[in-house]
Amino acid sequence: MIDLHCHILPSIDDGAKNTDISLAMLREQREQGVQAIMFTPHFNFSRIDVEGFVEVRQKSYEKLMAVSEVAELGMKFKLGCEVYFSTKLNETDLDPLCFEGTNYILIEFPTDQRPYGLRHTIVDILNRGYQPILAHVERYPYFTEDPTQLFDFVEQGCVAQINAGAILEGDKAALRYIKWGMAQLICTDAHNMKNRAPNLEEAFRYVKKKYGEDYVDWFEKNAIDVYKGKYVDEPELKKPKKILGFWL
Ligand SMILES: [Fe+2]
Repeated sequence: MIDLHCHILPSIDDGAKNTDISLAMLREQREQGVQAIMFTPHFNFSRIDVEGFVEVRQKSYEKLMAVSEVAELGMKFKLGCEVYFSTKLNETDLDPLCFEGTNYILIEFPTDQRPYGLRHTIVDILNRGYQPILAHVERYPYFTEDPTQLFDFVEQGCVAQINAGAILEGDKAALRYIKWGMAQLICTDAHNMKNRAPNLEEAFRYVKKKYGEDYVDWFEKNAIDVYKGKYVDEPELKKPKKILGFWL
């Protein structure tokens, strides 16, 4: 298994506060069968510029790699980030924000309202040859209220990610996106060892029980493809239809 969204790097965002917590999270990931990790600390244009962020992230990464027990885990790591949506993405060199060695860029959105310029910015990113990964898509009410909006993004080449925790909580939006083929990645978005701990194994167990082994294989393969910078297989999408006020 590969986790492509987690906040394990130490003292860089609201994730792991120090290397002890980072190490505990990595150990837990390893125990659950995770072999490779994309580190994705938060990046927000309103707090720091890209250059400054890359520098801080590198320092945090080096601090973690200096912990001798980390190497003993035998895991693979790459650097990425989780970008908070901004129309500034249109005028920014996205390479330093992409998952290392790939054209994938993980983007999260405000949860209160649909941000200005969402479609324009995402389409522009796609046109520039990058592949946006839309973080925890189950969280946005404007997608839940009209899932065809997310459908259109996925159809155009975006990759939709859902959180393992949402699946385990039985989040209706997350489960419907799986049903419609609109979710291609499951990641932990782990922040700590308490309320947002690594939980990929449990989520995949749930998916296997509810949807079957093929779904687990599909999610695992997609994560490997993204980690390697390959295209993920095109999903078999079912366009949501509104019938008698319900999205089916
Ligand atoms: Fe996150």
